[in-house]
Amino acid sequence: MSINEILSRFEPRPENLLSILQAVQESHPTHHLTPEDLKAVARYLNLSYSRVYGVASYCSMFNLEPRGRHIIRVCDSPACQLMGATTVLDELKNILQINENETTPDGEFTLETTSCLGVCGIAPAMVIDEEVYGNLTPEKVREIIEEYRRRESK
Ligand code: FES
Repeated sequence: MSINEILSRFEPRPENLLSILQAVQESHPTHHLTPEDLKAVARYLNLSYSRVYGVASYCSMFNLEPRGRHIIRVCDSPACQLMGATTVLDELKNILQINENETTPDGEFTLETTSCLGVCGIAPAMVIDEEVYGNLTPEKVREIIEEYRRRESK
């Protein structure tokens, strides 16, 4: 979907800025906003580029750098911590050969932590894109990542 198609889904009102930036970011396979995106949004809403850039760079939900095709978020809130979230995170770092907030060189995975995902009953938990995984162990994490890699190679 082009940026103009995305913009046309919203009224050109400044209060729609966050929703528009979110929709534009989601439309990119690399889950980020480019300077061209920010300029187009600024023009559409009749706002200055610096105002739009300021919002995009301030809000943690927006990314100005490319991210992986799949975003892995490991819960690091207390229930998951107690159930082994650190081991899960360490295993992911080991498998993917990246640290937290980094993207694999092939652009497939970005690894992040997040606060409670609301599924404490299946701690430790993580979400990959929109898919929730729980009761994680290092072995289970390895299988999940292998499954993603298998799917990608088809
Ligand atoms: S603490 Fe991890 S899902 Fe709630």
